[in-house]
Amino acid sequence: MAVPRLNFEPLGRHHDRRAFACGEPALDDYLKSRASQDVRRDVARVFVAVPPGTGDVAGYYTLGAFTIGLDRIPEEFARGLPPYGDLPAALIGRLARDLRWRGERVGELLLTDAIGRVLDATSRLAIHAIVVDAKNDTAAAFYRSFGFRPQVSRPNRLFLAVATAREGRR
Ligand SMILES: CC(C)(COP(=O)(O)OP(=O)(O)OC[C@H]1O[C@@H](n2cnc3c(N)ncnc32)[C@H](O)[C@@H]1OP(=O)(O)O)[C@@H](O)C(=O)NCCC(=O)NCCS
Repeated sequence: MAVPRLNFEPLGRHHDRRAFACGEPALDDYLKSRASQDVRRDVARVFVAVPPGTGDVAGYYTLGAFTIGLDRIPEEFARGLPPYGDLPAALIGRLARDLRWRGERVGELLLTDAIGRVLDATSRLAIHAIVVDAKNDTAAAFYRSFGFRPQVSRPNRLFLAVATAREGRR
């Protein structure tokens, strides 16, 4: 299947979000009414996938700083980590693709771009893992298919070690 050409850019005034619909009203409302405010207040960075030459939004995701408790990391991944309590992480709090772009691998492109931005940031800021909040079991299955693993006692919050993501990028 041909992968669509999309630009990934920070959310701006010129992006037309009125028609955005991903099937999860809370995620649509967030983009329309809350996202810009969160950016202004340094609560989240919001990136949109845009077909070149348009202001249309095919999808979006949010990124923020986060911490993950050592007790949330499955034992197999916790081996060798210092017993300090919390580890630095990046959070993909929301990720959604417009229904008009179903079947075009936009979800994968969004996630790849988000992971790439986190990896780029790791030269200036230590980030041990990428955490995602899946809104439901379908979304959790989507993330699992990219190597994310459920946190201990929180199956819809998943994580991917940055070291693993780096391996995948090579
Ligand atoms: C979850 C979501 C982002 C996936 O986007 P998408 O564009 O459908 O995903 P893609 O087409 O890029 O899928 C790429 C791969 O991911 C995996 N995948 C996608 N959806 C999956 C699912 N429901 N279960 C398991 N794997 C899945 C598959 O490996 C798929 O490859 P394949 O089509 O060759 O099998 C999209 O369905 C969406 O926006 N849903 C509404 C909002 C939401 O729930 N967001 C996530 C939580 S915040």
